[in-house]
Amino acid sequence: MQYIPPNNLRGHDLAPLLAARGLDPDWIQLHNFDPHSPQNVARHTYSDIAALVPFHYRSAVPTLPELRQWVDGLVATAKEAQAERNSPIASVAHGPSLLLLGVTGVGKTYEAYGAMRELAVTGVRCWWQVTTAADLYAALRPRHGIDAEAEFRRYRDTPLLLVDDLGAEGKPSAFTEEVNFRLINHRYERHLPTLFTSNADAGQLRDRLGDRVTSRLREMCQRIAMKGNDRRRAA
Ligand SMILES: Nc1ncnc2c1ncn2[C@@H]1O[C@H](COP(=O)(O)OP(=O)(O)OP(=O)(O)O)[C@@H](O)[C@H]1O
Ligand SMILES: [Mg+2]
Repeated sequence: MQYIPPNNLRGHDLAPLLAARGLDPDWIQLHNFDPHSPQNVARHTYSDIAALVPFHYRSAVPTLPELRQWVDGLVATAKEAQAERNSPIASVAHGPSLLLLGVTGVGKTYEAYGAMRELAVTGVRCWWQVTTAADLYAALRPRHGIDAEAEFRRYRDTPLLLVDDLGAEGKPSAFTEEVNFRLINHRYERHLPTLFTSNADAGQLRDRLGDRVTSRLREMCQRIAMKGNDRRRAA
């Protein structure tokens, strides 16, 4: 692992995430030149995910206990695998997925990026890809000069994936159905942890995604129904 010097975290506020884990805000800056230290792994991981977290969510901190438990579970599994393999660092490879459901503006994307940020400061290595479902379909549409299958594999095979706004587009097309099935089936079979958000309710989700996808989502995901109103109206 490459050594990442301190003070390279692009102005993101990490103090509340570290405090929630009982760590001092300066913990992540500990400067011991050990490339495998948890602090160096956290700096490395955070600088990777900082490029993926949209500016609006750069200070998101998860508030739902289920998200904290999910992060803790991934960390524990990664550490068990590290001990079994006797490897110098722990990295997230397997685990359960989450499906955050709730109305527009309730805070699903905020919680998802909060969880991503929190996982990044645990000292466990994680590799993410993030997309909205609509952007994913757009990126995968066959077009000249683009290897859509290579692009698909980037999302399919990433250890951790956030798919925001799944099922937002109403009636699925044959193309979106195929993408959903191939992506979700692959991640289901391999227990690859995925965060899904959707503002469809449970019945709409089945109509929009079909039986085979919703059946797999039911087994692979813990469902979290977020209660509340559109926070954007209050702003
Ligand atoms: N716990 C929170 N603390 C502070 N701000 C929050 C919190 N949760 C959400 N917000 C803010 O509320 C707004 C709506 O949140 P968010 O974008 O996560 O909603 P959403 O459920 O993803 O909505 P949509 O379904 O439209 O995508 C955002 O400005 C977000 O930053
Ligand atoms: Mg959202």
